[in-house]
Amino acid sequence: MFSKKIYTDRRAVLQQKVKKGLVLLMGNELSSMNYPDNTYHFRQDSTFLYYIGLDLPGLTAIIDLDKKKTMLFGRESTIDDIIWTGPQPSLRELAAKSGIQKVLPPSKIAAIIKKAKKSGQAIHFLPPYRPENKIKLSEWLGVPIRGLSCISCIPLVQAIIEQALIKGKEEIREMEKALAITADMHLTAMQTAKVGMTEAQVTGKVHGVAISAGGNLAYPIILTVNGQTLHNHYHGNVLKRGQLLLGDFGAETAMHYAGDITRTFPISKKFTKKQKDIYELVLDMEESSIAACKAGVLYKEVHLNAAKILVNGMKDLGLMKGDTEEAVAAGAHALFFPHGLGHAIGLDVHDMEDLGEDLVGYTDEVKRNPQFGLRSLRFGRALEKGHVMTVEPGIYFIPELIDQWESKGKFKNFINYPKLEKYRDFGGIRIEDNVLIMARGQKVLGPRIPKTVAEIEAIRGGI
Ligand code: GLY
Ligand code: MN
Ligand code: MN
Repeated sequence: MFSKKIYTDRRAVLQQKVKKGLVLLMGNELSSMNYPDNTYHFRQDSTFLYYIGLDLPGLTAIIDLDKKKTMLFGRESTIDDIIWTGPQPSLRELAAKSGIQKVLPPSKIAAIIKKAKKSGQAIHFLPPYRPENKIKLSEWLGVPIRGLSCISCIPLVQAIIEQALIKGKEEIREMEKALAITADMHLTAMQTAKVGMTEAQVTGKVHGVAISAGGNLAYPIILTVNGQTLHNHYHGNVLKRGQLLLGDFGAETAMHYAGDITRTFPISKKFTKKQKDIYELVLDMEESSIAACKAGVLYKEVHLNAAKILVNGMKDLGLMKGDTEEAVAAGAHALFFPHGLGHAIGLDVHDMEDLGEDLVGYTDEVKRNPQFGLRSLRFGRALEKGHVMTVEPGIYFIPELIDQWESKGKFKNFINYPKLEKYRDFGGIRIEDNVLIMARGQKVLGPRIPKTVAEIEAIRGGI
């Protein structure tokens, strides 16, 4: 945990923004996998971690904005709990670490909410994403699960997003730690992968690095020779000479701050000429986009600029043609780059996505564009000092998408379909880093992870 002051200060900021009513913050429960006692790895809710900091299942907090006090609800350990799971600090000791004096059993929550409802006090809650919390919320509010509309969540959600998107120094230090572990994970992959191994064997080594560092994964590992499948979690392929291996994985620290890095490297010692051409184009998209990330700049513009670099590069390779601006405006580049340039990152790898992707990444002035490709851009608004963003362009050759577009004659004035035939089995390349927006310019967080062709070939050549 951070110091008590961090949590009391964060709650004081929320108090100033939301002003009146009760703020209900639900921690997560243990969630069963295949029978009640065999549970998934516990992951605390990120908003609960942000304002309360306590990393145990079964906790709830209520911030009474009118009385300016916070209550923590939870169950004290019984002798049975101690026998099976060991001694735990008392709830009072835990609450004190977060600057909370009032501790109550969860059985009191329903009555407190009922009384608040009766007296007309607003009850602010967040959109629940776990079934257990949906059930509890439905019972506490006396509203059926289907009726848990989150229209009334919006003022609280907006206040939280506005506060938590701007990272404090203590958070940046945690993210630097996450990225130091993540850098070790990527180096391990580059130093481990050999012809004849399975993707699973490399994945196991990489996962081990995250666990050994005292944290875990920020999201399930993508490590695949089929990088053209964007969220590919299959790890059964055997690595073959000439293939590319795309690894998109990151650690979360013991305090749950995330790293999210992608590197793509050849299974052979060197890239082929064809691979190197596309790799260097993606690297140009990535490095130019990082340099363009500045306070006041719309992230949507950074995305569109990356798309223009893609089109110019693909024209040089003879895979696209026509006017670059027109191709990007029409969305022709999205055949090769169907996802967004990046997203905010923090306690969640997609920061606060549970609160609503559009509320995090868009505003009344900057709205999501429904065009294929752009519609997958999670964040379009202006960058601000203290934002931490991923920058993760890619170029993919997705045979099914190429075939579908070609059969419809889609964008045939911009795409050289006959020449694409030779790239059907190319796969995909993505390069991703995490970037802090500064008062002036930006900073790539974490240690440098080999990224240029020369850096990667130096490692691959030595194994
Ligand atoms: N790791 C998933 C992503 O890059 O968003
Ligand atoms: Mn990623
Ligand atoms: Mn990402």
